[in-house]
Amino acid sequence: MHTEQAISTVRDWIQDHERVAVLTGAGISAESGVPTFRGPEGLWRQYRAEDLATPEAFARDPELVWEWYDWRRSIVAETKPNPGHLALAEMERLVNNFTLITQNVDGLHDVAGSAHPLKLHGDIWEMRCTRCSNQLVNREVPLNPLPPMCDCGSMLRPNIVWFGESLPPLVLDQAWAAAEHAELFLVIGTSALVHPAASLPLVAQRSGAKVVEVNLEPTAITDQVDVSLMGPSGEILPQLLA
Ligand code: OAD
Repeated sequence: MHTEQAISTVRDWIQDHERVAVLTGAGISAESGVPTFRGPEGLWRQYRAEDLATPEAFARDPELVWEWYDWRRSIVAETKPNPGHLALAEMERLVNNFTLITQNVDGLHDVAGSAHPLKLHGDIWEMRCTRCSNQLVNREVPLNPLPPMCDCGSMLRPNIVWFGESLPPLVLDQAWAAAEHAELFLVIGTSALVHPAASLPLVAQRSGAKVVEVNLEPTAITDQVDVSLMGPSGEILPQLLA
């Protein structure tokens, strides 16, 4: 399908369906200036996830891990939502039953006005205690002291899902249910390589949803989606509402 025609088809689908779910990945924030993970400039090209984003790495060298998150927080603090984030916040107002699921930890969907994004991988502005049940929001940039400490005297850790850790079960359940019940599922700016997030579009499709992908390039699931819109999400998503 020609892109113009595909955009018009998806625009109609959004208008005609009651239950729409969306999964976003790092690509939606790329136009805001937040680095992605796997592209040519991606974080995992420059850093080893094993050294920075695993529980073992944190146990070995919490200061190094915290320095890396402090640096990422300082990048995100300088950014703002782009037209892609804003279009999804608007879509939420137009669709009867809308669920936004994100793998992103940057918080830009919240800033854009999305009400309750389901954050599968945590939030870079949250911390939790390594010993007690304390969990808090902290927007200080740069962090001081580093590593930050809990009132109970133990170290705080980023409230992020690291490799080898489980996703927050309640959030994953809600995302799974939204995928199963969706009539239309949009998957935006993700390489669709990290599971279980990457399973959600396929769960939706098996349950009867139409699946639309928005990405700069083909991904692991492009062959399986119903419509693939190739281009920057900040340009394509606003057109889906026009
Ligand atoms: P990736 O970096 O793996 O993929 C980003 C995707 O966005 C790629 O498919 C790009 O082609 C696409 N992309 C880049 N710029 C875009 C733009 N302007 N418009 C549309 N698409 C664009 O990021 P994720 O798929 O989000 O986990 O990665 C999944 C998880 O792996 C992340 O949540 C992170 C990482 O390890 C944790 O930190 C727990």
